Amino acid sequence: KTAYVPYKVKDISLADWGRKEIELAEAEMPGLMSLREEYGDSQPLKGARIAGCLHMTIQTAVLIETLQALGADVTWSSCNIFSTQDQAAAAIAATGTPVYAWKGMNEEEFDWCIEQTLFFGEDKKPLNMILDDGGDLTNMVLDRYPELAAGINGLSEETTTGVHRLYERVKNGTLPMPAININDSVTKSKFDNKYGCKESAVDAIRRATDIMLAGKRVTVCGYGDVGKGTAASFKGAGSIVTVTEIDPICALQAAMDGFEVKKLETVVANSDIIITTTGNKGIVRGEHFEAMKDKVIVANIGHFDNEIDVPYLNKNSEKVEIKPQVDKYNINGKDIILLAEGRLVNLGCATGHPSFVMSNSFTNQTLAQMELWNNAKAYKNEVYMLPKHLDEKVAFLHLAKIGVELTELSKEQADYIGVTQAGPYKPEHYRY
Ligand code: NAI
Repeated sequence: KTAYVPYKVKDISLADWGRKEIELAEAEMPGLMSLREEYGDSQPLKGARIAGCLHMTIQTAVLIETLQALGADVTWSSCNIFSTQDQAAAAIAATGTPVYAWKGMNEEEFDWCIEQTLFFGEDKKPLNMILDDGGDLTNMVLDRYPELAAGINGLSEETTTGVHRLYERVKNGTLPMPAININDSVTKSKFDNKYGCKESAVDAIRRATDIMLAGKRVTVCGYGDVGKGTAASFKGAGSIVTVTEIDPICALQAAMDGFEVKKLETVVANSDIIITTTGNKGIVRGEHFEAMKDKVIVANIGHFDNEIDVPYLNKNSEKVEIKPQVDKYNINGKDIILLAEGRLVNLGCATGHPSFVMSNSFTNQTLAQMELWNNAKAYKNEVYMLPKHLDEKVAFLHLAKIGVELTELSKEQADYIGVTQAGPYKPEHYRY
């Protein structure tokens, strides 16, 4: 067995910078900070050994320190090879927390990092909780270390793609522990995926390329939550946005929101920027690259890098690095600028979503970890969502920070619409 490595980051001397940014982020993450206040004394996560695999950013540092403030031991890796902010990883390592993450690792190192998080301390106590984003940690445990599953109370999963993998496991009978679907909390997917991408999509293109966005033709593939935020992001920058969709409901939504909806084949030759948001595979392929115009920018903001056929580019063109995470290819005499090697661009070329929206997602994560750690026996080996009153609580915790006045229902009004004054305020089937 390999020796215990207490942490591995790019440069531990970045810790002071990271700490200063963490302190600024805390002021923007009221949900997490109020959980620290509410549960700091009672230590609901005492005894929990949480292995986390989620973009090692400044916002995630605040999540890690919240889990610790509630009593947990935590180890961490990043769920993407480009998404770590090295100053955040350094600040967390400097507190003695085992973190294995740096920006620009290779895939072998990626697996090594996840593996280090499975065992805690010199005596290598195994994890007993999973906090995942995309399912790579879950797969590592269940496929390579299945003997650990029996000791794990449960897992919470952050994103659309990871949740999809979990429902597949339930269908195939290969989920050996209860799981909580964080993504489909309203205060996650309708905020992080949407308003988060609204800020971070354009941020990524600007930081990577400095291109003028106003007046440019942008094609957004997919109009789910991430697509809606991404399309709004470019619209806000003055771009002319076209959407592609396979779902008639989302296609109609895009049209009603004022976007042209076309097939990629129709608009590919005229697009200045093409960005995939589908969580599906094989969206931008060889025949599309062959039709693109010179200096087109191609990027993906979905979880995995299989939305764009990057192997096609590598096979058919020399690759010229402009700077890290910005590469130039040439197909049929036309330059194609590929961002973050087709991996999620807002974390590869920028710093992901702002703290305030991530506080919503991570407050859901923390509540889910508390529930699974203390009440796992109440759950079967299936995928659950947090109850609506907690979803409403997460939103409530973020109102004061932005000066929101919430109207209170009178008893008569509550009776009239069939809810209680304290909520939940909507039936389960309501879609927001
Ligand atoms: P979603 O399911 O709401 O949206 C995906 C949309 O793509 C759907 O409307 C679907 O009909 C459409 N689609 C599927 N195949 C298509 C095709 N061939 N052509 C055009 N459209 C197609 O999922 P959501 O929540 O928007 O997530 C999308 C991806 O983004 C997932 O991989 C998710 O994990 C990831 N994600 C990334 C974030 C980031 O910060 N980069 C944040 C949150 C999620």
